[in-house]
Amino acid sequence: MTYEKHKCWSILLRLYHWAFALSIIFLVVTGFYINNPWTNTLQEYSMSWPMAWMRYIHFVAAYVFTGAVLARIFLYIFGNAQERITDALPITGRNLKNLWRTLLNYSYISDDHYPRLGHNVLAGLTYLITIIAALFQLVSGFYLLFPEVAAWESWGVTIFASQQNARFIHHLLMWWFMIFALIHVYLVIWNDVMEPEGLVSSIFTGDKFKPKA
Ligand code: HEM
Ligand code: HEM
Repeated sequence: MTYEKHKCWSILLRLYHWAFALSIIFLVVTGFYINNPWTNTLQEYSMSWPMAWMRYIHFVAAYVFTGAVLARIFLYIFGNAQERITDALPITGRNLKNLWRTLLNYSYISDDHYPRLGHNVLAGLTYLITIIAALFQLVSGFYLLFPEVAAWESWGVTIFASQQNARFIHHLLMWWFMIFALIHVYLVIWNDVMEPEGLVSSIFTGDKFKPKA
């Protein structure tokens, strides 16, 4: 079969993807440390300051994460056809059909795969939920970080009531990102094995391949 190359993801989407993915790895590791420091607590009184370092890395990664989330929101509105929010929502006949076909395909009820340049709608919806989770993660994070800054305090109190709640939600949401990442990496590789569209490389190069009509 002959394939043709199509431009799929803009450079901003690819930069956001890797900023998001890499920052989450740092945030999860340092987040676990903040929750339950695994070094000898006596070190906290030494010059190595493990907790201070972990918190510092957490906050630097948090700003990268925030930048990535803002970039994604920008792309939902101003991105190319594959990146706009309308491509992720099951609001058109084309998207509804794609959602249904993907469910059948992922559950091994059907082997049919229908080429589509952007995400399938099931993936698109999951990414959208992840970005919404990311918004809650960053509001709870900034509320924990700047409880005395009026804007964060008012957002924090309105959404989470107390700091304890915010911390609890912040912790629970971490598990969403971890479980998502695991399933996500499995599914993109599975898709690439099942259909030679160059899916995994597309998140580096921006290009995908479709069978020539
Ligand atoms: C996927 C993204 C993130 C993950 C997985 C994550 C994870 C965590 C975890 C597990 C904790 C420890 C809370 C606990 O269980 O006791 C924590 C604390 C914290 N995080 Fe995050 N976080 C993320 C994003 C952010 C963001 C965007 C900010 C914004 C500044 C932030 C700020 C904080 C602050 C201020 C604390 C409390 C530090 C302390 O108690 O000293 N986090 N985070
Ligand atoms: C080796 C690691 C990874 C690879 C190879 C990879 C690959 C990909 C690919 C190929 C896509 C496009 C898939 C599609 O069309 O549905 C994608 C999208 C995405 N990935 Fe990853 N990914 C990796 C790690 C991660 C991690 C750790 C996260 C976050 C926890 C993540 C979050 C996302 C998100 C949110 C999207 C949607 C992009 C958008 O908003 O349009 N990825 N990834």
